[in-house]
Amino acid sequence: MALYSEKVMDHFRNPRNVGVIEDADGVGEVGNAKCGDIMKMYLKIEDDVVQDVKFETFGCGSAIASSSMATELIKGKPLCEVKQLTNKAVAEALDGLPAYKMHCSVLAEEAIQSALEDYYSRHPEKKPAE
Ligand code: FES
Repeated sequence: MALYSEKVMDHFRNPRNVGVIEDADGVGEVGNAKCGDIMKMYLKIEDDVVQDVKFETFGCGSAIASSSMATELIKGKPLCEVKQLTNKAVAEALDGLPAYKMHCSVLAEEAIQSALEDYYSRHPEKKPAE
């Protein structure tokens, strides 16, 4: 079996939603201290829905594929669903990642949750009660 699924290779070679949103409503940046990879997510939010999302990833192929897939999973989705996004869902959508590359999908989850928290810190009135 190939080390990486076709979906991983596809999202690595043709990443979706790469870039910056200048007037983003939420921005999240996370890094992994061990490998040194960094991921930044930008969210444009309207009516509690992700209208647009872009990312910049300085990292490995799995991190690029994970961020690309994660953006596809949350685009057009309500924030309550974005909040539920896990790295497992990202990895499953990519038809799996090698075990030692699972942390790359964790970075995608963390970047999105961090961008969401940034949005809520700017708009505390929008934050749902825990
Ligand atoms: Fe660290 Fe992929 S090797 S994010």
